[in-house]
Amino acid sequence: MLKLIFLIFLCLLLIIHSTNGASFRLCSSEQLTQFVGRCGPIERELVDLRNSTEDYYPKPEIVNNMTDLCQKVANCYGSIKCAESIDKMNQNKFQCDEDRLMFGEVPECIKWLFKEIYMVDYYDCLKDYDFLSYNMETKRKAFTSGKSCVFQVFNESQLFECDRDAVELIHKNYDLIVDYLTTDSSKKLCRGVNPLYQKLQCEVIKDKWLSMDSELINSGNNTQEEIAGFLELGNVLKECMSHSCLYTKKEKSYVDYRQKETKFRNSPFVKCATKIYEKKINTYEKYPCLKNQEPKEKTECKKLMLEELCGKEAADNLEETQEFFEFALGNNTEIIQ
Ligand SMILES: *[C@@H]1O[C@H](CO)[C@@H](O)[C@H](O)[C@H]1NC(C)=O
Ligand SMILES: *[C@@H]1O[C@H](CO)[C@@H](O)[C@H](O)[C@H]1NC(C)=O
Ligand SMILES: *[C@@H]1O[C@H](CO)[C@@H](O)[C@H](O)[C@H]1NC(C)=O
Ligand SMILES: *[C@@H]1O[C@H](CO)[C@@H](O)[C@H](O)[C@H]1NC(C)=O
Ligand SMILES: *[C@@H]1O[C@H](CO)[C@@H](O)[C@H](O)[C@H]1NC(C)=O
Repeated sequence: MLKLIFLIFLCLLLIIHSTNGASFRLCSSEQLTQFVGRCGPIERELVDLRNSTEDYYPKPEIVNNMTDLCQKVANCYGSIKCAESIDKMNQNKFQCDEDRLMFGEVPECIKWLFKEIYMVDYYDCLKDYDFLSYNMETKRKAFTSGKSCVFQVFNESQLFECDRDAVELIHKNYDLIVDYLTTDSSKKLCRGVNPLYQKLQCEVIKDKWLSMDSELINSGNNTQEEIAGFLELGNVLKECMSHSCLYTKKEKSYVDYRQKETKFRNSPFVKCATKIYEKKINTYEKYPCLKNQEPKEKTECKKLMLEELCGKEAADNLEETQEFFEFALGNNTEIIQ
């Protein structure tokens, strides 16, 4: 009886093993030495290249080298037919598939899509879905029910806007891409496709904001509407950045600083100071109380002067201006540079 049970057990083991026929035996020590010695260095080269590639849209040469290395690593591990080696091959395949969604034309295309969504002036269907929501469930619903809209936009895009191979890759991997676009990555490591796609959404806003910023600086004389538009877009950008783990504190503070500086440059206080300078008003003579050493009284005196020379608005603006000075002269030199 015991013999029978043992036999059945043995058969079961054999059956299980044979249904698992695609799997490989554990590597022999010779095979291990082979895959560490031969494939290890190629894999390390690939890992280093991946790690040192900071831009999602690197030079084509880098993308080509990455693709080549992926092929080489897969071939190398695949040629050693034992379990650990095949595992390594599969791990690398997974990473390399991710690379194609992270570097090159695909992220460039995703960014282009976000730009179209923001502009909504060409593809009408983009208006119908909440693609930009920071609520991941809402965003997932948008990308799921708006699938045919997204495809239509990509299909109608021009070659120079979106590479055809990238469009095809997005078609093939749409569900996976939707996962990457709509999974909250804030609690995970800030790496991989997911945080990158969240950042691409902000990069579109950032590009627009930067161009407005340099326009404001270059023109020097800005209308209230221009300034209000710039400040509003800055708030949209800051909101977006706060949902991305890939922006540094410095990058976020820079937006804040530019907003404060723009407000300052166009403030009633600065207009008043310009007036005082241009009209060569001798303020110390006219307002002896400015010499007062008491901070509180000195401030009252400045306010009186501003109000009399330029109106209440300028006086009310004094505190905000002082805050800006403290900010700019404080420990923020690394932001301002
Ligand atoms: C990537 O490179 C940096 C420095 O160059 C290093 O600190 C980091 O550990 C590397 N990451 C990986 C995954 O190798
Ligand atoms: C790409 O590969 C070529 C040939 O192996 C090499 O000469 C070149 O330096 C590589 N470029 C980069 C950016 O890694
Ligand atoms: C877009 O193009 C792909 C491939 O060419 C095709 O399979 C798909 O049906 C097209 N989608 C739309 C909405 O035209
Ligand atoms: C700035 O623009 C306003 C209105 O656009 C104009 O009245 C004013 O003269 C301009 N100032 C300078 C210094 O160019
Ligand atoms: C500025 O930095 C200095 C040293 O770097 C520090 O002692 C000081 O407290 C800082 N001031 C503020 C307002 O953070």
